[in-house]
Amino acid sequence: MSDIAASWSPLEPSTVEAAVAAAAGPDWTVRLLAAAGSTNEVAAADPVPRTVVVADHQTAGRGRLDRSWSTPPGTALTFSLVLRPALPDRHWSLLPLAVALGAADGIASLTGLRPDLKWPNDLLLGGRKLSGILLERVPGRDGRPVVVIGIGVNVGMGAEQLPVEGATSLAVEGVAPDRAALLGALVAAVDVRVDELATGPDRLLAAYRSRCVTLGRQVRVHLPAGRELTGIAQDVDDDGRLVVDGVPVGAGDVVHVRAR
Ligand code: BTN
Repeated sequence: MSDIAASWSPLEPSTVEAAVAAAAGPDWTVRLLAAAGSTNEVAAADPVPRTVVVADHQTAGRGRLDRSWSTPPGTALTFSLVLRPALPDRHWSLLPLAVALGAADGIASLTGLRPDLKWPNDLLLGGRKLSGILLERVPGRDGRPVVVIGIGVNVGMGAEQLPVEGATSLAVEGVAPDRAALLGALVAAVDVRVDELATGPDRLLAAYRSRCVTLGRQVRVHLPAGRELTGIAQDVDDDGRLVVDGVPVGAGDVVHVRAR
């Protein structure tokens, strides 16, 4: 374990609750678990809006497209928040973009670093992945839909602890924020962007397009069912899909091949 990770202290319930209340408001309920398989799974099992489930260590984290998300103990911020956005059905496809913007805002507000956005919702620093986001729409207690928003941020891992090729962490980038404060900043900023989307998609889409470093690049997209598409990422359309050589893509794993 590196010196940075060794000096990491466990999340304390009172500190985490205070940080979320101070940054995001007193109406959030915080459930802090010392360990959990997947915070998305815990949150989805009883999805009460305005609840945050945070695991000090996540042991079976889930990623997009059925991948896993794994982080060494004490080095990451792994949490899921539950929201019931006031959105018409047709705008739910824009939620991943709103959350990506919010997560980038939250990190910027606390660290001064300004992550880039890779479509649909990876956060990058210097082209390396800092944070991943997994959204799941599930029925709430009353049967009406809620969204479980899972966010993982590589916080304290040293270069030798990075879980995958092409990743980075805040520590590697030279900052070591307090994880509770970072959680509060992220919850607050995501909430703000989801509220912004609820007022209409135009501002949100304009902000997303201006921050999305996928646009203008040659990309290779691994589509569901094993297909592949290569071309220039031309736009993000009004439904949040990536338009590659005229073809709108709703879901897929994007590889940035090279700059245009
Ligand atoms: C991805 O980049 O593929 C998305 C990764 C999402 C990881 C977070 S960590 C907290 C939450 N719980 C999970 O099981 N996954 C998300």
